[in-house]
Amino acid sequence: MHLDSSHLVAYAELVASLQDEKPSAVLERMQSQIEAGDLDLKDVFVALDRTGVEVTDIVRLVRIGKDEAFLTQWRGRGSGTRHTIAALLTEARARADELGIRDLSTRVYDDRMTDAYRSALLDAGFTSTNRRVEYRTPLSQMPPEGESRFVWKTMTETGEDLVLDLLREASIGTPDGVDTSVGSTAIANLLDGDYASMDPRTVQVGFLDGTAAAVLFCVATPEDGWSTITFMGIVPSQRRAGLGTQAHLHGIATLRELGGVTYHDGTGESNEAMLRLFAKQGCVESNRMEEWHAIPGRP
Ligand SMILES: CC(C)(COP(=O)(O)OP(=O)(O)OC[C@H]1O[C@@H](n2cnc3c(N)ncnc32)[C@H](O)[C@@H]1OP(=O)(O)O)[C@@H](O)C(=O)NCCC(=O)NCCS
Repeated sequence: MHLDSSHLVAYAELVASLQDEKPSAVLERMQSQIEAGDLDLKDVFVALDRTGVEVTDIVRLVRIGKDEAFLTQWRGRGSGTRHTIAALLTEARARADELGIRDLSTRVYDDRMTDAYRSALLDAGFTSTNRRVEYRTPLSQMPPEGESRFVWKTMTETGEDLVLDLLREASIGTPDGVDTSVGSTAIANLLDGDYASMDPRTVQVGFLDGTAAAVLFCVATPEDGWSTITFMGIVPSQRRAGLGTQAHLHGIATLRELGGVTYHDGTGESNEAMLRLFAKQGCVESNRMEEWHAIPGRP
């Protein structure tokens, strides 16, 4: 079932116990998210105990961009039964369909994956697509930008078409490629919002002797210091010449300018180039996980 206001306190109690917070703080945060229109209780799925009073299991649908969403990792009081987890995932999938979500994914950390969880994902029509490595690093620990062969321009200066062309080209031969068939929506999805309302440096193109060769999407929220590079790419003909490293350092410098404090990022476990790049830049690995996608038309 989806969460309703009568179970809000019980929900806050469970979340608080799972993340070592006060229930009142969780409740307050949720209430302000509801008021701001950032949280719809119909996107939160819960299971209740036999008395119907306590919330025992939760999964939340989080919309990103126009037609993409992810499900938060299942959390609950016990270890979670296959039946309960599958029921929550199935309800969340139905809600995503109702909202016209085209791409629904979820990630499960290695230390939280169980046989029951895996079976529940399969029951609910998800397929395992990739393994991911994630990093979390203070920007103060990252190297400065230094020398670079690039001249950088914002998307305001280059126009959106060039950015889409670069996204398309840079998505060749990578497990982290972007689906550009949806046109401008691909940009909105990477930004989780509208570029026009953001700092123009959020999307940049790197030029080498006047020719576009790199694209960077840098997002930061100064309120909490969170920051990430949602996509970076070098055109295939220019790879393995040190340009990825230079582009990444420019991205890091941009995140600092945009008010970032901690750099969060990740890549597919099969993306050798990006794994190598993160390692050489001193990024600190925080988690390994499986990525699952809802199979269209199932269950
Ligand atoms: C990832 C990417 C940006 C790297 O760009 P690049 O210009 O090749 O990077 P660099 O030349 O600076 O190389 C960085 C490191 O990765 C290594 N590397 C590059 N390509 C590699 C590959 N295919 N396999 C293994 N290592 C690789 C380089 O040897 C270098 O390590 P080193 O300095 O220890 O030798 C580029 O491959 C790319 O655009 N990929 C497609 C888009 C993508 O996957 N983006 C990441 C998701 S957001």
